[in-house]
Amino acid sequence: MKVLVVGSGGREHALVWKISQSKEVKKIYCAPGNAGISEIAETLPIKAEDLNSLLKFALENKIDLTVVGPELPLSLGIVDLFESHGLKIFGPRKSPAEIESSKVFAKNFMKKYNIPTANYETFTSDEIEKAKKFVQGLTPPIVIKADGLAGGKGVTICENINDAAKTIDLYFKDKIFGLAGEKIVIEEFLEGEEASVFAITDGNDFITLAPAQDYKRVFDNDEGKNTGGMGSYAPTPLLDNMMLERIKDEIIKPTIQGLKNEGREYKGCLYCGLMITEDGPKVLEFNCRFGDPETQVVLPLLDGDIIEMFFKAIDGGLKKFNYNIKKATAVCVILASAGYPDNYETGKEIYGLDEVRKMEDIILFHAGTKKINGKILTSGGRVLGITAIGGENDFENTIRKAYDAVKKIQFDGMHYRTDIGKKAIKFLKTNL
Ligand code: AMP
Ligand code: GLY
Repeated sequence: MKVLVVGSGGREHALVWKISQSKEVKKIYCAPGNAGISEIAETLPIKAEDLNSLLKFALENKIDLTVVGPELPLSLGIVDLFESHGLKIFGPRKSPAEIESSKVFAKNFMKKYNIPTANYETFTSDEIEKAKKFVQGLTPPIVIKADGLAGGKGVTICENINDAAKTIDLYFKDKIFGLAGEKIVIEEFLEGEEASVFAITDGNDFITLAPAQDYKRVFDNDEGKNTGGMGSYAPTPLLDNMMLERIKDEIIKPTIQGLKNEGREYKGCLYCGLMITEDGPKVLEFNCRFGDPETQVVLPLLDGDIIEMFFKAIDGGLKKFNYNIKKATAVCVILASAGYPDNYETGKEIYGLDEVRKMEDIILFHAGTKKINGKILTSGGRVLGITAIGGENDFENTIRKAYDAVKKIQFDGMHYRTDIGKKAIKFLKTNL
């Protein structure tokens, strides 16, 4: 079987790594991929959003299965396009993918189907005064979100009403997010701890993978700017079995059924970004894809054939997918370029990769890397993800293993958080 993976980050490296373990798979291509991916797959100089070139490649090379990593090609309709040419592809079509690409749609959908989420109102760019009046009646912090895809930067948490009014101007007058900010959601601030749950669904049935926690802020103790994610760990003890069952019953089931009801049958990975509040789990956002860097800890804990999972999601029958979640722990630390998440430097040589590759219980996932004249150089904001695997509940050791490996890597300007996974230890203690 020939498989094509679309994307170039740590998530895609984790997908290619897991796919390469399937007996059925004879050849993997990745478009465009990165230096790490090129060691197990043939990388192609095609951008993830160049749908026509991807289609041409898949048809000419008789690709049996395409797996899409990022949201952009999904929101542009890559699944609809491939399916219309008889190709098998894992991911939601354009219309159900709106659960991520339009926050206004997602919020209105959740309201209609009673899916727990923050209270909100939506506004369009010709309602500036109305939006400002609305925030005057709210108690800060106030959360303002661009409707469309904004590369993970579309959410602003405003500490007071003045800031909220300024933010409304930035979105609507200065158009900092362009068309993606033509509509906004203003919502209440939720207090709690965040968790990411991935449901793989065939449109009717679903399974969940190991629940994870992502570290979004750039600095230790959740300080500094939001990033794409500076690390992750799984399974998070924040969600015990009872909480996971609630999430399935109150959130995942009604979402899959509701989307079907709306004529937007959802197949693929439904990423539930949750806030676990005193009143129970609430949806912060849905994404129409696997998360990054959560995938780098979730897939190593999946005991099952991912190719079988993808085909059962596409063709139906996910109920019969034979899998387990390993009784183990996984911790992933992201190594980032100087300046990230703002403008960052690239082209720095990375040292220590060979040494880390030999370490036990360590999986080295590449994100922004490229190979030039035999050297591996940085080429993105998030450069590497180092995942350590350890015993069940033994986060202390797994964290230690991850950081032992981190210390062996060097590149100019490298920075990382030093507290990834620590919350798991705290949650385990409070659960006892
Ligand atoms: P989103 O892209 O909607 O997940 O938002 C990005 C991040 O902003 C989330 O991971 C949260 O940390 C934060 N956030 C979003 N919405 C809220 C909310 N209603 N209350 C508190 N924090 C939020
Ligand atoms: N880790 C956050 C995301 O993938 O959107």
